[in-house]
Amino acid sequence: MSTIIAVTNQKGGVGKTTTAVNVAYYLAKMGHKTLLIDFDPQGNASSGLGLDKQALDVTMKDVVTQTHTLADAILGTPYQNLYLAPTIPELANVEVELAQAQHRFSRLRDAVSSCPEFEFIIIDCPPSLSLLTVNALIAARYILLPVQAEFYALEGLGQLLETVKIIRKGTNPALDLVGVLPTMVDGRTSLSGQVYEEIKKYFPGKVFKQTIPRNVRLAEAPSHGVPIGVYDRFSKGARAYKAVTKEIIERVG
Ligand SMILES: Nc1ncnc2c1ncn2[C@@H]1O[C@H](COP(=O)(O)OP(=O)(O)OP(=O)(O)O)[C@@H](O)[C@H]1O
Ligand SMILES: [Mg+2]
Repeated sequence: MSTIIAVTNQKGGVGKTTTAVNVAYYLAKMGHKTLLIDFDPQGNASSGLGLDKQALDVTMKDVVTQTHTLADAILGTPYQNLYLAPTIPELANVEVELAQAQHRFSRLRDAVSSCPEFEFIIIDCPPSLSLLTVNALIAARYILLPVQAEFYALEGLGQLLETVKIIRKGTNPALDLVGVLPTMVDGRTSLSGQVYEEIKKYFPGKVFKQTIPRNVRLAEAPSHGVPIGVYDRFSKGARAYKAVTKEIIERVG
C-alpha cells in the first residue's frame, strides 16, 4: 500500500509546490518508487519537473472526471523511481462540473487506490480549501503542512484544521499530520526565530527538526524545470530538503 501525503496550506506562496517537488525527488532518489500528483490547476509542480504542458494527453482533470484512470495519466520523468501525474488549468472547472455529482469528494481516493505499486504518493494541493483540497485530504494518510516563517504564518490555519477535524470524524479517521515544515526561514532575522518558536508551540511535537532556509537556488530551480537536487545539490536548500525527506521516512516508519 502507498503512503499518501498531501502537501497543503490554503495560504498561497508558502512553499507547497517547492516542497512537493523536492521531497518527491529525494524520496525517489533514496530508492522509493514515488508518484507526484499535480493537483493544483496552476500546474507548477508539472513545470517544476520540466514538463511540456502543451503536449499533454491525459491529466488529473480526466482522472477526477473519471474519463480516464490514474494509470493513464502517469508519466515517467528523467529521474529513476519518480513519476508525475500532470495537470492543466481546466482542473479548476471540476468544482462546478462536479457540483452535484455523486462521490465527488472521494474521486482522488478511488483513483490512488488503483495504483498501489507506488511506495509514496505526494499530492501538491492548490492554495484553497476547495473540492480539490478536500479530495486530497480524503485520499491522504498524512498532511505535510509548509508554513512560511513570517508574522502571519499561523493566520488562516484554523479553517484548514477545522476541515481536517471534520474529515477525520467522517470519511478518513486515519488522517494525521506527518509534520509542519517552516519554510523560507531567514536565519539573519530574529523574527524567523520567534515565528519558529510560535509554530512549535502551536503544533507540539509536530514541527520538523530541519527547517527550509530562504535560498535563491530553490527559487531558480523551477525556471530550469529541475528539482533542487539536480540544479544545485550542494546548496543549502538542497541539503535541507534532503534532510526533511529523511525525517519524513522516519516518521512514517
Ligand atoms: N525556501 C525558499 N527560498 C526562496 N524562495 C522560495 C523558497 N521556497 C519557495 N520559494 C519561491 O517562492 C515562491 C512560492 O513557492 P511555491 O510555489 O513553492 O509556493 P506554493 O505554496 O506552492 O504557492 P501556491 O500557493 O501559489 O501554489 C516560488 O517562486 C518559489 O520558487
Ligand atoms: Mg503551489
